[in-house]
Amino acid sequence: MCGIVGYIGHKNATSILLDGLKRLEYRGYDSAGVALLENGDFRVFKEKGKIVEVEKLLSKKKIHSSIGIAHTRWATHGEPSKINAHPHLSFDKRIALVHNGIIENYRILKKNLQSKGFQSISDTDSEVLANLISYYYQNDLEEAVRRALKDINGTYGILVMAKDNPNMIIGARHGSPIVVGIGEKEMFVASDVSAIVTYTKSVIYLDDNEIVAVTQNEYRTTSLSAYTVEKDIQEIDWDIDDITKGGFDHYMLKEIHEQVDTVQNAFRGRLNWDEATAKLGGIPEEVFLTTERVIITACGTSYYSALVGEYLLEELAEIPTEVEYASEFRYRSPIIKKGTVVFVISQSGETADTLAALREAKRKGSKVYGITNVVGSTIARETDGGVYTHAGPEIGVASTKAFTSQITILLLIALSFARRRRMSHQRGLEILRNLVNLPHSIKQILENSNKLKQLAKKHAKSSNMLFLGRHINYPVALEGALKLKEISYIHAEGYPAAEMKHGPIALIDENMPVIVIATDSNILEKVISNIQEVKARKGRVIAIATEGNHSIQELCEDVFYVPKVLDIVSPILNVIPLQLFAYYVAVERGCEVDQPRNLAKSVTVE
Ligand code: AGP
Repeated sequence: MCGIVGYIGHKNATSILLDGLKRLEYRGYDSAGVALLENGDFRVFKEKGKIVEVEKLLSKKKIHSSIGIAHTRWATHGEPSKINAHPHLSFDKRIALVHNGIIENYRILKKNLQSKGFQSISDTDSEVLANLISYYYQNDLEEAVRRALKDINGTYGILVMAKDNPNMIIGARHGSPIVVGIGEKEMFVASDVSAIVTYTKSVIYLDDNEIVAVTQNEYRTTSLSAYTVEKDIQEIDWDIDDITKGGFDHYMLKEIHEQVDTVQNAFRGRLNWDEATAKLGGIPEEVFLTTERVIITACGTSYYSALVGEYLLEELAEIPTEVEYASEFRYRSPIIKKGTVVFVISQSGETADTLAALREAKRKGSKVYGITNVVGSTIARETDGGVYTHAGPEIGVASTKAFTSQITILLLIALSFARRRRMSHQRGLEILRNLVNLPHSIKQILENSNKLKQLAKKHAKSSNMLFLGRHINYPVALEGALKLKEISYIHAEGYPAAEMKHGPIALIDENMPVIVIATDSNILEKVISNIQEVKARKGRVIAIATEGNHSIQELCEDVFYVPKVLDIVSPILNVIPLQLFAYYVAVERGCEVDQPRNLAKSVTVE
C-alpha cells in the first residue's frame, strides 16, 4: 500500500506535499517523491528511502509552484530504488502520475506502447500507465485518463497532472482509496484523510470506478463512463493531535497507552444495563434473532481478534462460528446458506483481501457486517452495516488499540446474540460489569510497564520465542507472536499450549524464552502442566498470570501480573503486556518500531 497526496491552490505546494507525505508514511516508506509544475515544466524530486531524503533534495531548491503530486511507496513491482520511485513521467514528459495499486496487464500494455514510441525507464507498472495516458492525451486530461483506465486491469488510486495544464489534477480510484479535501481556494487529494485534516475537515470519498477533476476552486466527480456522480461532503470528526506522538517516543507506544480510552470508546453509549445487553444500531435486530451460523473473515491482527470472537460467540451465544483468513476465504468457494451471516474485521477498512472476501460473501447472497475503525473506508461503505471501533487513527504499523477495540465490539455482539437466546440477565450484568472495569485494569498494567521493559532487555538478543495460550487466550498468544516478529524481527510462534508437545517442544532449550498466558481460568491447571513441560527442558518461562497467584512464581523465571477479570474478557487485558514486551524488545534492538521493514499499515494490494 502506498501513500499519495496532491495539492492545487494559492499556497506553495512543496511544504503541503511533504507534510502530507509524512502523515502517510505509515502506509509505505521504501522510496518517495514529489512532482511540481513550475513555469510550464515538471520539477521531479525522488529518492530511495524515507521522505526525509526527498526533503533534503527540496531544501536546496527554491520552487515556486502551487500545484503538485507526491508519493511514498511500498514496492509491488520493481525493487525500491530512485528510478522506480514515484512520481513517474511519461516518456514524452507531458504527464506526471502517482499510483497506489497494481496494474495486472501492464506487460502487454508496455509492449504495445513501446511499439508506439513510449519507452519505459523503470521496472514499474505505474510508469506504463503514465505513458498510456500520454498516448491518449490530446488536450483533455480527464478524457485521456478515462480512456487509459478502460484499458487496464487491476487496482489503482492515481493522481495525474499534464505539463500544459497547470490548473487541474485528475484523481481516480479502483480498489485503492482516494479522498478529496475541500479548502478555501485550494483543494487536496490523498489516500486518506490524515494528509488533509491539518488543512480542512470537509471531504468527499471516491468510490470504485470514479474520477475526480480538481481545480483550485472546485471539483467534479464522474463515473468511468463519464456520468456525473454527486458526492456528499463529510466532516472529519478528529484532528491533527490525534495523529501526533503526544510526547511518546513512538506512535505504537502512544496507541498502547490510548487503550485506557479506546476500549471505553468501543463500548461507550452501547451498553443497555436494563436488559443487560448491548445496543448496536448498525446491525439489524433480525440478525440477532435469525442467525444460525456466523463466518468471520479478516487478515493479520484482525484475524486474531476474529478468533477470539469465535470463542465469544460459541461460548456465550452458542452460535456455530467459523473464522477464515480473508485471502483463503475469497478463493475457496465458501458454503454460505440461508441463516449464515458474515462479519469482516478491518482496522483500515481498505485491506484488499478482506474487501475481496466481503464481495465474495455478498456475491454468494450473504449479508455482511463490518467491524472497522475508519469511517468512510471502502469496507465500511460496502458492508450492509456494522460497528465502528472508534479507536481513532492507528498510525503505528503494528496494530494494538484496534485489536482490543475489535474484541470489545465482538464481546458486545456476542452479548447481543446471547441475551436474545439463553444467557441470563445476571450473567449479562456480570459481563457488563467486567467490561466497564477494564479501562481501570488496563491503567494498572500500563503503570507496571517498567517490568516489561526489564524483561525485554533480558530477552532482546533471543533468536526465537514461543507464545503459548489456551482457549480464548490462544489467539492472544498468536497476536503476541505477531507483534514481536513484525517489529523486532525475532522469529516467534504462537501455539495452543497443549499443542506444544506435538512437535514444537523439540525447540525448547535454555535459549528459548516461552511466554505463557496463565491467567485464572477453569483450565489453569492444564496450563501449569504445560509450563512444567517447558521447564523440564530448561525452557525460560515468562508467565502472564492473575494477581494473587503466587505459586506460579516457583515454576517460572519471570511472572507479569494482570488484574483479575472474567476469563471471557481476559484477552483484552492479557494482550497488553505482550504489546509492551514486543515494543520494548524492538526498541532495545534499535528497530524502526512505527515503520518496520517490508511492512505497510494497510495492505491494499493482493
Ligand atoms: C498487524 O499488526 C499488522 N499490521 C497486520 O497484520 C494487519 O493487522 C493486517 O494487515 C490487517 O489490517 P486491517 O485490520 O487494516 O485489515
